[in-house]
Amino acid sequence: MSKPILEVRNLTKKFGDFTAVDNISFDIHEGEILGLLGPNGAGKTTTIHMLLGLIAPSAGSIHMFGLDLAEHREEILQQVNFSSTYISMPFSLTVEENLKVIARLYSLQNIQQRVDAILEKLEMSDIRSKLTRKLSTGQMSRLTLAKALMTEPKILFLDEPTASLDPDIVHKIKAFLKEYQRNAGLSILYTSHNMREMEEMSNRIVFLQHGHIVAEGTADQIVQRYGQRDLEEVFLKLAREPKAQ
Ligand SMILES: Nc1ncnc2c1ncn2[C@@H]1O[C@H](COP(=O)(O)OP(=O)(O)O)[C@@H](O)[C@H]1O
Ligand SMILES: [Mg+2]
Repeated sequence: MSKPILEVRNLTKKFGDFTAVDNISFDIHEGEILGLLGPNGAGKTTTIHMLLGLIAPSAGSIHMFGLDLAEHREEILQQVNFSSTYISMPFSLTVEENLKVIARLYSLQNIQQRVDAILEKLEMSDIRSKLTRKLSTGQMSRLTLAKALMTEPKILFLDEPTASLDPDIVHKIKAFLKEYQRNAGLSILYTSHNMREMEEMSNRIVFLQHGHIVAEGTADQIVQRYGQRDLEEVFLKLAREPKAQ
């Protein structure tokens, strides 16, 4: 197998006495979609914030493209992007204007062409002149995804990208991401607490519970190991276990 594009070793985050992420290690390979699955409060967003250099780990290391994030932050982050349902964007700009601002911030070339291409890919051409404040939730999600893909990242972090969306839009976003990932060889870290979505989207799953990795592998491997019928049963079994002291 290829060398990992992202390597996390013994990563830990403490907030005061509370350990939100507890000594986790995992890899992501080129072109792989890794699903970070876990109930609310498991430590998924905290992990992504450390991977984006937004908060400093209490212990452990993060390497991307073979470089240490602590030492090569800017170089690494140029090739990385992020999208979340909870992201906010300037509301008084149109969809197209928002994407152009991002393109300029990243000093991208051929801005109009790129904006046109991404709008087309995400089926947003018809809403390019719509004010961001007037977008529906589904349109807003697609805009944050467009924003992240504009910079043609090699690694994309998606934190609950489909939370609070209706099933039709979720289906479209998933189909789009899978095709995009196949064509662009993009590596994705995808968080969700939706088991079915994880099974569909991820090549491999890391199951996080109270900041610990409690299971890892393909959905089938995890289901077999726990002797349950499906990932949802494993999830319920693990989620109901009290935190080990
Ligand atoms: N800045 C912070 N200060 C204190 N506790 C935090 C902070 N950020 C997150 N936490 C706690 O860390 C745990 C993990 O949170 P989070 O990573 O957001 O979980 P998830 O994304 O899996 O729902 C939660 O118990 C949360 O309350
Ligand atoms: Mg979260």
